[in-house]
Amino acid sequence: MDIYIDTADLDEIKQAAALGVLDGVTTNPSLVAREGVDFHTRLREICQVVSGPVSAEVVATDHDGMIAEAEPLIGIADNIVIKLPCIEEGVRACKTLSDRGVRVNMTLCFQPLQALMAAKAGAFLISPFVGRVDDVGGDGMEIIQQIRQIYDNYGYETKILTASIRHPQHLVQAALIGSDVATCPLKVIQQVMKHPLTDVGLKKFLADWHEAMAVLQKKEPALT
Ligand code: G3P
Repeated sequence: MDIYIDTADLDEIKQAAALGVLDGVTTNPSLVAREGVDFHTRLREICQVVSGPVSAEVVATDHDGMIAEAEPLIGIADNIVIKLPCIEEGVRACKTLSDRGVRVNMTLCFQPLQALMAAKAGAFLISPFVGRVDDVGGDGMEIIQQIRQIYDNYGYETKILTASIRHPQHLVQAALIGSDVATCPLKVIQQVMKHPLTDVGLKKFLADWHEAMAVLQKKEPALT
């Protein structure tokens, strides 16, 4: 499963990229607004750090406006993926761009039929928001499961990108279901590498090692 970071914060992206396991980046208008920087400049900076797919979302809500906004974004770098909302005009714009060979990420997906339409329109990625579904008492991961089954039933190649991930359990479930990608905040990427028993075990290994070395040094100074 590919792991993307869900942020427009360049320092966070650099931190995640330094791990050597980052496959891409997703941004959205709220994340970019939080940074208070020029959108295109920030995308250029991100694309210098990450060579995998970098999603850039349009804010127009009509087909022609979406295409017009997408044009300069596409020119920023080869790895830019145009992010469009799962609305009628978004599906139309997805078809237009996909037919031209532009990769599209269909976002704000909350039910499996939106994912079906995105796949039929040639989307490269579909982004179901699991955390936001859970927030309103639904079961976000059930939607991932349903989309997986629909895509597998018909051989759609659109990749499922599990988004709106709130905690490591979302990531575990996404991987078990067979989501192609998961996009997470830096906090979750860091959380998945932590386990208290790993810390306790490492502390013990190091203590045992240093204790044994100290004893050995006393007995056989030349060996240490
Ligand atoms: O970028 C899309 C998605 O991951 C947003 O997540 O936490 O705002 O629901 P969140």
